[in-house]
Amino acid sequence: MPPDSSQDFNARLFEMRLDRSRDDLFGMLKRLYGHRPDYARFAEQLVALLRASWEARPERLKWRDMARDLEPDWFQRPDMNGYVFYIDRFAGTLDLVPEKLAYLEKLGITYVHLMPCLKPRPGDSDGGYSVMDYTEVNPALGTMDDLERVASECHDRGMSVCIDLVLNHTAKEHDWAMKARAGDEHYRDYYFMFVDDTIPKAYEATLVEIFPANAPGNFTYYEDMDRWVWTTFNEHQWDLNWSNPQVFLEMTKVMLFLANKGVDVLRLDAPAFLWKRMGTRCQSEPEVHVLLHALRAASRIAAPAVIHLEEAIVGPAEMMPYLGRGEHDGKEGNLAYHNSLMVQFWSALAARDVGLMSHVLETHFPKVLTNATYATYLRCHDDIGWAVTDEDAAAVGVSGFGHRTFLSDFYDGTFPGSFSRGALFQVNAATGDKRISGSTASLAGLEQALEAGDAGEIDAAVDRILMGHALIASWGGIPLVYMGDEIALLNDYGYRDHPEIAHDSRWVHRPVMDWERVANLADAPDSPEARVFLGLRHILARRAQVAGFHGAVPTEVLETGRKGVFAFARRAPTGPVICVYNFTEDWTGLPASWFLGRGAKRLHDLLSDAPVQSDDGGVPLPPYARVWVV
Ligand code: GLC
Repeated sequence: MPPDSSQDFNARLFEMRLDRSRDDLFGMLKRLYGHRPDYARFAEQLVALLRASWEARPERLKWRDMARDLEPDWFQRPDMNGYVFYIDRFAGTLDLVPEKLAYLEKLGITYVHLMPCLKPRPGDSDGGYSVMDYTEVNPALGTMDDLERVASECHDRGMSVCIDLVLNHTAKEHDWAMKARAGDEHYRDYYFMFVDDTIPKAYEATLVEIFPANAPGNFTYYEDMDRWVWTTFNEHQWDLNWSNPQVFLEMTKVMLFLANKGVDVLRLDAPAFLWKRMGTRCQSEPEVHVLLHALRAASRIAAPAVIHLEEAIVGPAEMMPYLGRGEHDGKEGNLAYHNSLMVQFWSALAARDVGLMSHVLETHFPKVLTNATYATYLRCHDDIGWAVTDEDAAAVGVSGFGHRTFLSDFYDGTFPGSFSRGALFQVNAATGDKRISGSTASLAGLEQALEAGDAGEIDAAVDRILMGHALIASWGGIPLVYMGDEIALLNDYGYRDHPEIAHDSRWVHRPVMDWERVANLADAPDSPEARVFLGLRHILARRAQVAGFHGAVPTEVLETGRKGVFAFARRAPTGPVICVYNFTEDWTGLPASWFLGRGAKRLHDLLSDAPVQSDDGGVPLPPYARVWVV
């Protein structure tokens, strides 16, 4: 092909992509910024930015765009299995990540989330979520070239790559913030700055506190500039003013710059906070969804292979819109964390009662999603907040506050008879709210069982961990294995000796990867870590074979009539897969007729690849049983 004809092809392709998503992009942006005198200029600047980003996009990635246009359901497929890790804690530096990919491949991983890797502020950076430069990689981890190489190596191995994009705030050391601080009015408008505390106080009346224990309040006063600045999270994280179209432009530029490095999934950090409205909690306001719809359209135009994972850790009813409800259906997040599934897993495990879980998952979650699915998980790098509403609790006859308190007490280990070892996080003296930190294995009972040398309890803990992973592998969505969970790493209390992070108990579940333990797995096949590793690998491998676990297949919660048994059907066109989980340490069972009545044909468990019916016609469910029956 002569060079100008390929250029022509590229330019025309861009125009087609722009046409496809023009209404989504400008239909949304007009609502937010259309009233401004500079709107037309803004719109022009945005198109120029999209075009320039497309032109700069490496050809290799344009082929990826094509491939994903042809297979737009790639992220919904059952062979998508995710793994989330801190680069330093997992591999040391970015250039060493490729050496670890064979290990992940062995586990069945096809998606990796590299935890915050852009240049953070010096000192405490909230685990990397306080970014001072979005165009550079954290120098302690490597360079942008390294990141590009890692992405390309992952692609060669059939893995997709996710990184974080912190949209709500920058570090106060970011160039924009420094200029704002020095008095540049253009940049002051990038943030929320107030000359006195009248307006902050008015907002504060309805805001909640995210880090009440160590970063109380939502505003910070800076004497040098005599201004109050909006700081929802930590003092060093300055909230961006998304009502300023320049912020939209700047962050879109960042987004597409990262997309062009080969990233497939952008995890949009804390999007709930993007829009502020007096008299509200300033979370999940309608404009947030308008913004996310527009950002999604921008990616679709200039980097179509890229999808968005939205991190909205909110109650169930508030969470669904992040996957596109109403006019945003199919056009907002492609992925969002299933925070409720995670919370309900731990809740049912402690209570040995799946009533609340069934109620919440049935009431608040649609059976199918358009062009979207969940990121399912048991643990991540953050704490667990007990996002159980008073209304949902009341619907199953319990007190919301009482149940949330029970869960905190259970998981910090103070509740009598608890199997768990966790740490409290951000206890809010005013509301009584207590969040929980802790690794999967420690929360599931392994730490205590090992200390007690109790073989039965060790077995139970291993089964809890595996049941949880079977659950997140079958519900629908990409199951995310959190680094170290596959080898049952326990809590790491070492963070308490580091003054910079000692106040943040989330570090208890951010251990350094134990490669020695990995090396020894084969020598000690009966150890809890080997059983977890092999069990999890088996779950992920089996999941990949079950067509009914595709993210587009409806999920329907089923009533089992057993207090401790949770069940749902994946209603595949070829017949249902009925997934059943025993949340108790007791044997129980369900009659064969229960399965047959719900569409099962063979009473064959896809997980163990064996029949599940016993001689008396029932289906026995051992402690923490997990079965995927067809
Ligand atoms: C997200 C991150 C969390 C961080 C917060 C502020 O919730 O997961 O770790 O503290 O955003 O950036």
